[in-house]
Amino acid sequence: MDIVNRPRRTRRNQIVRNLVSETTLRVDRLIQPYFVTDGESIKDEINGLPGIYRESPDSLVKSVNDDMKLGINKIMLFGVTDRKDQMATSSMDETNPVILATNELKQKFGDDLFVSADVCLCAYTDTGHCGVTVDDEIDNDRSVAVLAEMALALAEAGCDCVAPSDMMDGRVGAIRERLDIEGFDDTIILAYTAKYASAYYGPFREAANSSPGKGDRKGYQMDYRNRTEALRELMLDEEEGADIVMVKPALAYLDIISDFKRNTELPIAAYNVSGEYTAVKLLAETGLADEGLMAIENLTAMTRAGASIILTYHLRDILTHGWHIG
Ligand code: PBG
Ligand code: ZN
Repeated sequence: MDIVNRPRRTRRNQIVRNLVSETTLRVDRLIQPYFVTDGESIKDEINGLPGIYRESPDSLVKSVNDDMKLGINKIMLFGVTDRKDQMATSSMDETNPVILATNELKQKFGDDLFVSADVCLCAYTDTGHCGVTVDDEIDNDRSVAVLAEMALALAEAGCDCVAPSDMMDGRVGAIRERLDIEGFDDTIILAYTAKYASAYYGPFREAANSSPGKGDRKGYQMDYRNRTEALRELMLDEEEGADIVMVKPALAYLDIISDFKRNTELPIAAYNVSGEYTAVKLLAETGLADEGLMAIENLTAMTRAGASIILTYHLRDILTHGWHIG
């Protein structure tokens, strides 16, 4: 046959395939999430997130110590507590589990460990909403004031990076200002810039005990029918001083990641969320597909779309099993 263009030429063997490969997934760009709870000597595997634990600060420090030997040096902490009230006071008091854990981690590991922490109120409000409720409404501006104090408390505890995931308007700017006034101008803000109202957060909400008591999160998280609106959020977070912009979830939102890639010079992160992780785990359990191959394929797709940083529950497994990242 008279075919000039034969794309199969460069697919002939692994060496050639590697030579022409366009995307490299890097393990050193992955961040491992952890759940920290009140108490001592607690380490419970989370129902619905196999291989992920809810741990008290003392136990978390040990787990992180072990994980650092595997090669993990960037982590994201989420708080879990039963101490909930209207104004989310436990989000920033001295007994907050994330604050306790961060203090210990930074004392022990210093700059060898990059500690980031989620900034949101849903684990701490009695309503389970990401903002505070005043007169039956989720009050944006009062929520932002509380979030800024929470971010400051986390920075004071030693967090290298704070990650607002609440989706209140103006929170990135308010956090930046609050941090700077107190001299934390080096604390990084990783903004959940385009965070969609998603069914894929299911396992996380059970893990963090943070489901809204009534209603849903559609009044603040984005509507998944919208694409252009994500660029508006991007523009606002850039203006307000975000250092890293994140898209969440990742897999059903690769178009948004790719739009970010074309519209910002900032580093782009993707959150490979709990439901995406557990879907892979459950499918692997049936024996119908290989867990490592699925995980690496998913993470590579996020990278190909334009994410350079990925938060993923798969990280520990990738390092433990030495899954080939291509
Ligand atoms: C808190 C928060 C959520 C996630 C990260 N931060 C849950 C939510 O918004 O309901 C989800 C992460 C995951 O599913 O892995 N706002
Ligand atoms: Zn929240």
